[in-house]
Amino acid sequence: MYIIFLGAPGAGKGTQAANVARELRLVHIATGDLFRQALEQGTELGLKAKSYMEKGVLGPDELTIGMVLERMSAPDCELGIVFDGFPRNLVQAEALDKALQEQDKAIDKVLYIKVSEEELLKRLSGRLICRQCQTPYHITNSPPRVWGKCDKCGGELYQRPDDTVESIRKRLEVYYAETAPLIDYYAQVGKLLEVDGGGSVDEVGRRIFVALQGSVYS
Ligand code: AP5
Repeated sequence: MYIIFLGAPGAGKGTQAANVARELRLVHIATGDLFRQALEQGTELGLKAKSYMEKGVLGPDELTIGMVLERMSAPDCELGIVFDGFPRNLVQAEALDKALQEQDKAIDKVLYIKVSEEELLKRLSGRLICRQCQTPYHITNSPPRVWGKCDKCGGELYQRPDDTVESIRKRLEVYYAETAPLIDYYAQVGKLLEVDGGGSVDEVGRRIFVALQGSVYS
């Protein structure tokens, strides 16, 4: 199964995509996480992505698509993938369609998590993420059990440098201009499932599973 999570910055794509991947035993590919890991490791890819991430704009398509296709070629991706933060524009969506087609595969469903801008700002300004495994937390909505430490791996929690008000505004601008057109792109081929992203993480998670079950068994 191949699922895409679509939504504005802070909509909860990372939070929900990780749960869906775990429940359905699929591989979770999050391009933002791959760039941040590369940056932490000081690799060439990380250094190339750094300035784009800091500015809140998209990295070059060629670099991003190459990184995703390489990850997709690993044997653990055979049974399916949950994409999070990819594709981010039409060029990336078409490249993904082509790569899957070449293997007689296709995207099954696209989950679009819809959240108000006011809520996005609240979520992003209180977000902390794990330096090691990238798990997201929130200072009030989903705090870690031990302050500053990841529940899953014990890694250090930090605030992303692009979670400043200025960078969030830029990321939203980029989202409306470049990523939001993908909502129509996938709706036109009958793959879009729109989910209300308001409410708690568990409530949104339940809506996602209901939407997925309804679409798979209908
Ligand atoms: P990326 O890391 O993908 O950032 P983003 O799209 O801006 O999305 P976020 O990670 O900010 O939000 P999310 O929807 O995953 O929310 P989360 O679950 O964390 O990209 C960063 C940068 O990398 C880009 O700007 C670009 O430069 C580059 N990049 C990445 N992909 C690229 C691509 N394909 N092409 C080119 N460049 C690319 O949740 C947010 C917060 O809310 C958390 O604190 C969470 O705990 C909390 N929360 C979640 N759900 C709920 C809920 N229901 N109720 C209350 N709180 C909640």
